[in-house]
Amino acid sequence: MNLPTEVRYRPYADWSEDEIKQINENVARSPWHATYHIEPKTGLLNDPNGFSFFNGKFTLFFQNWPFGAAHGLKSWVHTESTDLVHFKETGAILLPDNPHDSHGAYSGSAFEIDGRLFLFYTGNVRDENWVRDPLQVGAWMDADGKIEKFDDVLIQQPSDVTEHFRDPQIFDYKGQFYAIIGAQSLDKKGFIKLYKAENNDVKNWKFIGNLDFGGTGSEYMIECPNLVFVDDKPILLYSPQGLDKSELDYQNIYPNTYKICQSFDSTHAKLIGASQIQNLDYGFEAYATQGFNAPDGRALIVSWIGLPDVDYPTDQYDYQGAMSLVKELSLKNGKLHQYPVDAIKTLRITSETFSNKVKTNNTYELELTFPAGEKSELLLFSDGEGNGLRLTIDTENGQIILDRSQAGIQYATDFGTTRQCDIDKKETTANIFVDKSIVEIFINKGEKVFTSRVFPENEQNGIQIISGQPTGKYFELKY
Ligand code: FRU
Repeated sequence: MNLPTEVRYRPYADWSEDEIKQINENVARSPWHATYHIEPKTGLLNDPNGFSFFNGKFTLFFQNWPFGAAHGLKSWVHTESTDLVHFKETGAILLPDNPHDSHGAYSGSAFEIDGRLFLFYTGNVRDENWVRDPLQVGAWMDADGKIEKFDDVLIQQPSDVTEHFRDPQIFDYKGQFYAIIGAQSLDKKGFIKLYKAENNDVKNWKFIGNLDFGGTGSEYMIECPNLVFVDDKPILLYSPQGLDKSELDYQNIYPNTYKICQSFDSTHAKLIGASQIQNLDYGFEAYATQGFNAPDGRALIVSWIGLPDVDYPTDQYDYQGAMSLVKELSLKNGKLHQYPVDAIKTLRITSETFSNKVKTNNTYELELTFPAGEKSELLLFSDGEGNGLRLTIDTENGQIILDRSQAGIQYATDFGTTRQCDIDKKETTANIFVDKSIVEIFINKGEKVFTSRVFPENEQNGIQIISGQPTGKYFELKY
């Protein structure tokens, strides 16, 4: 939603109790609230931040502007979880309350060090002429959620980048802390900078080099770069804005992509043997995915179900955006898979054989198998009159199509109303998680993923098999 700059950057303390009450009441009116996904209490949620393991629990913050569905003065809102399925907001917030983050506590990462959580983030600072100074700054969070910001800036804007320099990700590689940061060069190309913590002191970062990941620079900015390791192979996850479509076929305003690499040469800032760039998600919205390697080694990721510069039907209710389910990465036959953590099964409260359903509460999981050599079509969010979210799984021609054109309130249609990807021509499975206005589809246990919003209108809650003979289960889910 377009709101004037003075509204979006109004100091938090200037919002009256009455204004906040009205925003809360408006949010409560929405018919589209998710039940088992993280949503902001109010305002806009965007990137996952600080995804980490701290004090015996998983920590996940999100970017938030709490006063409406717009990108304003951002803070980090803290949630925690023991099972990566149930998340609880704790009340701890990293606020933009310091000269080094005066115009927003932008995205970043976290790592537990000696009993405290180190937060590494971008302080968005603007001067009176609205000229931006992107500062990479730090803070400690203790087990009670108390935040203590560092006095000194950790990394200043280098001379070879524009104002677009942000989203530090700290990671531990062989016992040494490194960080990668998204950047734009002076000739407006996206790239990634690599730093190393001298003597593992997170207050002392030394530049190693511009990360060579076999990128072409056809994008104009790389946001939210992340390096995680799966079976010792580095996986680079990133959001390249403006990527040339000759490099990668994508339809969303900006893609969220990855490369599988063979090894990491930390001395020369090089990812060796990087694959072609690939879409991380084929749905209508998944962006700014953040990942980290948990202490048990698992590579866990979570995505913003939303996109920059897109208006959503929830905007009228003063909120926007959700977090995806937490997904675990694995490599199978050299292919990256993403699949919700096993504990997601604890949400299943009923189980029945899959068939047409006139009515559901739009809170369910389907676990389906589609036979080889057949084109199956399903309508989710179906109203019984042919409208709904149409999912085509065509194992004869090797294609999946998700068509949103007849599903609920239409928005962002400039970017098309269908999404598709190719699959192998063979028996195919799909696990489909529906949560009121969110759908996450995992093909072949995460070989391909479609993450999307759907904003159903009245009575759009059925499931209809249009063609084909998928078999499987319907599970009602409860948080
Ligand atoms: C990505 C992003 C980040 C930035 C944050 C600000 O969605 O633009 O690059 O740090 O959002 O909210």
